[in-house]
Amino acid sequence: MTHSLRLAVFGDPISHTLSPRIHGLFGRQLGIEVDYQAIRCREQELPEKLTALAAAGGIGANLTLPLKPAGLRHCRQLDQPARLARAVNTLMLSEQGWLGFNTDGPGLILDLERQGFALNGARILILGAGGATAGILAPLLKQHPACITLLNRTPVRAASLAERFAHLGPISGHALTAKPQGPGHDLVIQATSLGHQGTMPELNAGWLQATAKVYDLNYGAAHEPVARWARDRGLAVSGGLGMLVGQAALAFEIWTGRRPSISATLDRMAETDLS
Ligand code: ATR
Repeated sequence: MTHSLRLAVFGDPISHTLSPRIHGLFGRQLGIEVDYQAIRCREQELPEKLTALAAAGGIGANLTLPLKPAGLRHCRQLDQPARLARAVNTLMLSEQGWLGFNTDGPGLILDLERQGFALNGARILILGAGGATAGILAPLLKQHPACITLLNRTPVRAASLAERFAHLGPISGHALTAKPQGPGHDLVIQATSLGHQGTMPELNAGWLQATAKVYDLNYGAAHEPVARWARDRGLAVSGGLGMLVGQAALAFEIWTGRRPSISATLDRMAETDLS
């Protein structure tokens, strides 16, 4: 008798998560039977939900908003991205207890590589300085960009985040309205939550190279404002679905030792959206 791999994602809200669908597609792609549940969980319930998952034979979990920082407290060990981001999105059960990982930033790197974008030497502009930005900075700086400029509505958050990561590479933080220094940027990463209000932060196309790429961490309807802005200016743009699948693929690899194909999964998702 074969047993399926028991996994879950915890968050609140959780009903709109694509993770069960993505991990189901991974399982089919690699011939691994997967039982991946989406479970609503408040922060104070996380210890009991993790215990229940382990008791039911669960071997891994994802954490989504707002549980990623809380996940740190429930892990015996953390990988470097999780330590630096101060947030956990992937847990794996070991004999010692839960091990914590953060595959969000590495998932973004995988997706940019898949799209043929060279981060080495790139000038990167990031809009936003919240948890989403904190999750991607260490993996981005590891790729040796020429610089990372953080712009944020609340300048002190951008400055303190830049300070926190300054030991890893050239990074500075400023107000959203500040004009970035130096030549145009090669990559803009939109990491504010404004897309969910149908809008985006003020951005001057003059701060970008004509060949710049715009990458929005949002996907679906929340990506539309940035997609429109970039297309109107003839700039290459992509939403964050590839990063979502990328972080999931890395989590799946942690649990199974096998990494699914991001492109094949995105193709399959697009096909099933049309049907
Ligand atoms: P997340 O974990 O998704 O990054 P967050 O920590 O709440 O969420 O951060 C949201 C980001 O969107 C922040 O950079 C926030 O700017 P502030 O630090 O000034 O709050 C940004 N953001 C949210 N609403 C915004 C708005 N109306 N205009 C500009 N930036 C906004």
